[in-house]
This record gives sequence, C-alpha cells and structure tokens, in this order.
Amino acid sequence: MTQAKTSVIILAAGMGKRMHSSIPKVMHTLAGRPMISHVLETVSQAGYSDIVLVVGKEMEKNHELFLPYQTVHQRERLGTGHAVKIALEAMGEMPENILILYGDTPLISASHLNHLVRIIEDGADSALLAFKEDKSNSYGRVFVKDSHVDKIIEASDASSEELKNNLCNSGIMAVSGKIIINAVNQIKDNNSKKEFYLTDIVSIINQDGGKTSFVECSKDECVGINNKSDLAKAEAIIQEKYRENFMQKGVTLLDPKSVFFSFDTILGQDVEIGPFTIFGPGVSVGSNVKIKGFCHLEHAVVSNNAVIGPYARLRPGTNIDEDVRIGNFVEIKNSQIRSGAKVNHLAYVGDTNLGKQSNIGAGTITANYDGFNKSKTNIGERVSIGSNSVLVAPVNIGDDSVTGAGTIVRKDIPDNSVSITEGAQKTSIGAAEKYKAQKKLKTKKDNEDL
Ligand code: UD1
Ligand code: MG
Repeated sequence: MTQAKTSVIILAAGMGKRMHSSIPKVMHTLAGRPMISHVLETVSQAGYSDIVLVVGKEMEKNHELFLPYQTVHQRERLGTGHAVKIALEAMGEMPENILILYGDTPLISASHLNHLVRIIEDGADSALLAFKEDKSNSYGRVFVKDSHVDKIIEASDASSEELKNNLCNSGIMAVSGKIIINAVNQIKDNNSKKEFYLTDIVSIINQDGGKTSFVECSKDECVGINNKSDLAKAEAIIQEKYRENFMQKGVTLLDPKSVFFSFDTILGQDVEIGPFTIFGPGVSVGSNVKIKGFCHLEHAVVSNNAVIGPYARLRPGTNIDEDVRIGNFVEIKNSQIRSGAKVNHLAYVGDTNLGKQSNIGAGTITANYDGFNKSKTNIGERVSIGSNSVLVAPVNIGDDSVTGAGTIVRKDIPDNSVSITEGAQKTSIGAAEKYKAQKKLKTKKDNEDL
C-alpha cells in the first residue's frame, strides 16, 4: 500500500510571534478545535499513520493531542529547514516518500496530499503545492522554469519586482526519501532572518541535478495562519464550507453567514436554524428540530422535534429529549430534559433531571450551587413549577406536583402535592385612592424642595 512507504513530518514548533499570544500558534482554534488537530485529521484521512510532529517546549502540556504519533522537540527554533532536519534525524530508516506539512496550514485537503505523494512515486525528486494570491502577502514566491520549480524566494528576501510574482508557496511538499537528507543538510542560514529555510531545498535539488514539480491549488486551501487576521480568514473559509455542506444535506439556514459550526457538529434531517446561532464542540441535533435565532449550544444533545430558542443557551451535559420546548432567555446546564417538557421563559436549569411533560414557569431558578458544592434537582413527570420558583438543591419534586408562583422549595415535595411559600400578603380594601393622593402630595413637596 502506498501510504506505508510514506512518512509525514508536521512542523508545529514555531513561536507564532505574529499572533501576539501566550498560546502556541498551532493550538489556536478553528471551528472549535486546535488548528493542529485539523492537520492531523487530514493526514489520517489521506491514509498516513507514520507521523512525526516537530513541537516546541510550550506544547509539552498538550502532548495527549499528538498521541499516538511521535513528537520531536525543537529546542532552538532555527527555521523550517532545521525543523525538518531534526525530524529526519529522529526517524531512523528513510521511507520512500516524505510528506512535509506546516501546522499553521490547516485547510489543506487529503486529496492534494495524496497527489503530491503520487508525483514522487512517479519518479519526481520533490513536489510542492502552490497557489495564486494577487493581494499583497508574505508568502514565499515560487519561480517556475521549464514547467518545474526553479527556486522559492521568501517575501522578506524578495525584491519588489520578485514580489510581483503571484505564485505562492503553501509550504506543503513531498520529497523523495532518497535525496532528502542530503538536500536538507545543505540548507544554510544566509538570509535576512538568519534561519534555515526549508524552501531553499528547491534550489539545492536543482543544483544537484534533480527536479521539483508543483501542483496548483486554491488559495483557500493553502491559507497559512501567522496572525489573528489570517486566523479569522481561515475561520471564515471553513465555516463557509460547513454551511454549504449542511445546506446541501437539507439543513435550512435562515441567514447562513451568521451561523457558526464546530468541526464535529451533527445535524439531522429537516433542521431549521435561525440567525446568529453558534454551535460549540460536541453538539448533536436530531431531525425536525427548530433552533431559533441567537442560540448558543455546546456539548449538548437535542432530540427530534424539539424547539430551542430564540436566545437559549445549552451548556455542556445538556440532553434535550423529543418534543421539548426551550424558550427565550433560558440556560440549561448538565441536565436531562425529558420528552414533552417545557422551559419556555427566563429560567436557569442546572444539574437537573426534569421529567416528561413537566413545565417550568418563567423566572424559575435551580439553586444548584451553595458556594461549595453543586447539587442535583430531580423533578418528576407532569410537574408544574410556578413562575419565579427557586428550587434549592439537593431537592426532589414528585410526579404530578405543583408549586405556586414564587415558591422557595427547600424540602422534598412528594408526588401529587401542592407547595406554596406563604408570605404575609396584606390587602386594604378601598385604600387605593387615599394612597395615590398621598403619593401625589409627596412628589409635589419633593419637587418644591429642590
Ligand atoms: C512559510 C514558508 C513560506 C510559505 C509559508 C506558507 C519557509 C521558510 N517559508 O513561511 O515560503 O509561503 O510558510 O504558509 O518555510 N516552524 C517550526 N520550527 C521553526 C520554524 C517554523 O516548527 O523553526 C513551523 C511553524 O510552527 C509553522 C511552520 O513551521 O507551523 C511554518 O513556519 P512560519 O514561521 O509560519 O513560516 P512562514 O513565515 O509562514
Ligand atoms: Mg506560517
């Protein structure tokens, strides 16, 4: 099998200075997960499993993300050429093909990776992915002679004339295992940044009598992320792809541009999503579900025929069963909302099991945290919780029970019971006229005193 003869090197040790962040560059997220995870998934989709990642010391705490692959620590970041060199040293026996990817170029497709490898298998010494970008940019420029790559000149070392060349280097390349060590060992740091540029390998291969082919692909696929503006650009590209994909599968997006998905969002059939809705990671939505505008969902399951929002927030651990209604300004966290239940207005439901067909009145809060511990609220089936109730957890409310408006539930309520908090409500019959006159007089006097 082709893939067994191919080893992959992913460069991910760069400081990412241009991000102006304490987070290592490749750990910045795109569609809800670190950009390096997108690269790893694409490599694995392409069928490669022999992978070496070059990482910096800041990434040590993220090592689980890279399992089961091998990581090599680049202590001194001396450039992309140096990073490849230390990866090769760690690899031992050379495979037939080496595929090199940059961790900051996460939108590349598996098919283009395979294409590069095929070119090497067909006898080329190396092959790279190039793309056209007409706007001013800092990508290395790819110079072609006799339909092969002659050289790459980094933007920081290029003359204004050279910068007019709009064929750019994606950084992704495949190199024959027969020549790579010899070529990489010849890379020097005689450039404006005093770094060992991997891109110099092209001229070196030429000098040694070899050839570098290139494949042109779309600039969207090759976007390299060096700063927050690039990150936003990549996010826009990936979101556009997800939106299109979902719409092609029958999802209705009322305003596609304002809906954001995560890499793992699952949506069933006949789902309708209103504007300004954000899907964080871990959301799965069943069929015939309406998510009205301005909702935020994260690590939540929404089952068939539910209606969510507008303005609802489903936090991690939320399970919404079939035919549930979650209305405006409702927050649900770590709770099971059983089929047919309704939480329609202004409520917080946390660490709760809400039984089938139960209704939570407007303004109700589950007081699940006493400053030290989180506690559970269990509400049975067909329960009616009156508006503005406070359910002080841990507490259990039995099936078919009712709480009055404003009830503070501190003790368990058995099945089929009515519970109200009696406050002393005093009513003076016929006193309204006198009360209003007194109020008017007082306001007049207050104004005169000013
Ligand atoms: C690089 C290319 C440029 C190309 C562009 C595409 C070089 C010299 N230049 O420029 O031709 O157009 O990518 O996006 O390769 N890294 C290490 N160790 C290092 C330096 C970098 O692991 O010592 C990693 C970074 O984490 C990053 C990748 O290599 O993932 C590329 O490095 P970066 O500094 O972003 O290179 P660019 O300036 O973008
Ligand atoms: Mg870069």
